[in-house]
Amino acid sequence: EKGGYEYFMLKEIAEQPSAVADTLLGKLVDGRIVLDEQRLSDQELRDIDKVFIVACGSAYHSGLVAKYAIEHWTRIPCEVEIASEFRYRDPVLDRSTLVVAISQSGETADTLEAVRHAKSQKARVLAVCNTNGAQIPREADAVLYTHAGPEIGVASTKAYLAQIAANYLVGLALAQARGTKFPDEVSAEFHALEQMPELIGQVVERLDQVRQIARELADSKSVLFLGRHVGYPTALEGALKLKELAYMHAEGFPAGELKHGPIALIEEGLPVFVVMPPLHGRSLLHSKLISNIQEIKARGARTIIISAEGDEVVKPFADYLIEIPETTTLLQPLLSTIPYQAFAAEVAAARGYDVDKPRNLAKSVTVE
Ligand code: F6R
Repeated sequence: EKGGYEYFMLKEIAEQPSAVADTLLGKLVDGRIVLDEQRLSDQELRDIDKVFIVACGSAYHSGLVAKYAIEHWTRIPCEVEIASEFRYRDPVLDRSTLVVAISQSGETADTLEAVRHAKSQKARVLAVCNTNGAQIPREADAVLYTHAGPEIGVASTKAYLAQIAANYLVGLALAQARGTKFPDEVSAEFHALEQMPELIGQVVERLDQVRQIARELADSKSVLFLGRHVGYPTALEGALKLKELAYMHAEGFPAGELKHGPIALIEEGLPVFVVMPPLHGRSLLHSKLISNIQEIKARGARTIIISAEGDEVVKPFADYLIEIPETTTLLQPLLSTIPYQAFAAEVAAARGYDVDKPRNLAKSVTVE
């Protein structure tokens, strides 16, 4: 049941600390990352020279986040592709390609067909899935389960954060197999991930502010989301949530693309969300984003900024400021996504829509 929450989605947002913690549980054994079902030999994993991530919707966004970590940690080229595109073109795959299929339900038709296509080309397939024994993990060579528990709300929340955590474990497992990271570095990254549930809990506790902002902006015609690096897929996820729940026009862009078109959309009063990378992480990214914010503010945008506590630099540019705990650039999506989830849910509720069952959508998309 809803456990005192107005809708399931709010309950599931609140369950995110345990969704991530449970996904990490028992995954580091004697300093080594272990998958749940491993039908690939260590040698096969070592031989991987290309990674393709395939998924749909939010799961695809979790894959986009993973690419930054996987290439950084493993130096293996990693592409992320929407499953329905991947399956109908002619991707270059062979036995040293790892195809990572991410799916909460494990039954999504396009993702399943992408898996079958990959296998027919002799690629190795690893499933990241939230549903035990679903079709995608059954057909995969290796499986890593997310332990988010059942998700009732149609819009993915806790499964999404769990996917990000699991994808990072995939990256660490590859880095360990390939030797691009020493065992103590793998353990250190794992322990950094283990710190996240507590910080996720802190973000969840402070969502009243975001919900208030949502009620103030519930009548907007359109909302834009900007980010750089992992903040870019987070922008896509923020926009998807708002479209599917609040039926509001929303788009996510890489902030660096503004000048190449989207800046023409900025007009007086348009709400624009921006995730700021941690000031002490990649300060170059931070200053680039400050310039982007100046550009949109000069054209009348209303800025809603998500930034790390203690970031004084961005404050003068924020019409609304949502602070999250400081973490590293790579781990930030585990925190910065949460205000977007709550924002979309609350705009939908303010508009009188059914937050858990948005129109035209099904939880599991088993047809194309
Ligand atoms: C968005 C959402 C969908 C799913 C997509 C894939 O909130 O929930 O975009 O992420 O339909 O579903 P799975 O992960 O079950 O393959």
